[in-house]
Amino acid sequence: MDNNKRPENMKRIETEAQAISFIESEIAAVKTQVGNGKVLLALSGGVDSSVVAALLIKAIGKNLVCVHVNHGLLRKGEPEQVVKVFRHEMDANLIYVDAVDRFLDKLAGISDPEQKRKIIGAEFIRVFEEEARKLEGIDFLAQGTIYPDILESDGVKAHHNVGGLPDDLKFELVEPLKFLYKDEVRIVGKALGLPDSMVYRQPFPGPGLGVRCLGAITRDRLECVRESDAILREEFAKNGLEGKVWQYFTVVPDFRSVGVRDGKRSFEYPVIIRAVNTKDAMTATVEDIPFALLSHITDRILSEVKGVNRVCYDMTPKPVGTIEWE
Ligand code: XMP
Repeated sequence: MDNNKRPENMKRIETEAQAISFIESEIAAVKTQVGNGKVLLALSGGVDSSVVAALLIKAIGKNLVCVHVNHGLLRKGEPEQVVKVFRHEMDANLIYVDAVDRFLDKLAGISDPEQKRKIIGAEFIRVFEEEARKLEGIDFLAQGTIYPDILESDGVKAHHNVGGLPDDLKFELVEPLKFLYKDEVRIVGKALGLPDSMVYRQPFPGPGLGVRCLGAITRDRLECVRESDAILREEFAKNGLEGKVWQYFTVVPDFRSVGVRDGKRSFEYPVIIRAVNTKDAMTATVEDIPFALLSHITDRILSEVKGVNRVCYDMTPKPVGTIEWE
């Protein structure tokens, strides 16, 4: 049998009861696979890795070692949420790595989008490798591989960032979600007690805010992206657009424009709002945000985000534009 093919008799998970029965059988399977062995997991706080973590905590408790790498490119509140949910509420064995300075120093002065992506990916593996080497007795590596990853990338989780570990750190894989589609993963996550803000998160690229702070990343512009993104998400949630619009975020380019603030000339950054709908991310249409809401979000960004004097709305469908700007 092909190990990477969803079994033909596997029913789709559509209800909480089905999710609970899936969780029970996966707990048994994981216990059989790992016994008393220790399992390592890179826990980003995204849907897939969070659901794997919650499932494995139920199966093997402290024998799961979660490593959360804060690379400084996460959205506002995300690292704190990972610590709160997994360390404080689920009592996980969680190692929190503050690698913010390390990533931002490596990225300083790098403006080419592909090079930025490569640096973020390579540095992530290096940090994770260093943490893995400090630990003893690890035999297994858990991954949040889901079925579309297998279908799209021939069994290699394309955007999963621990695939590049050196040979002496090759562990046996534990991939409990590998036959699930995204909607099924969310139902399982909900049944495991994860908060909605984690389970129903919009897609977020691996390189995080790094691809939305255009050109060479600076700390001041990165804060403009993070703060404006937080305002946009808060307003979308308040106005019933969360979960309705597929992906929405802000972008800060690496140029400034002239404005007036308090009667004086200002020279500050613009914030670009992007909100799109799509089925498969191959094509996308622009969300028709009510004008009054756009105005309100603009006012908030202009008054609350330091260093910003202009807000624009990106009206570009994909194609011709891509969803992200880099
Ligand atoms: P584009 O910009 O190509 O994006 O239209 C399509 C979808 O893919 C996401 N995206 C990424 N996801 N790593 C990821 O995990 C990446 O490097 C990456 N780049 C883009 C993007 O957010 C959108 O949902």
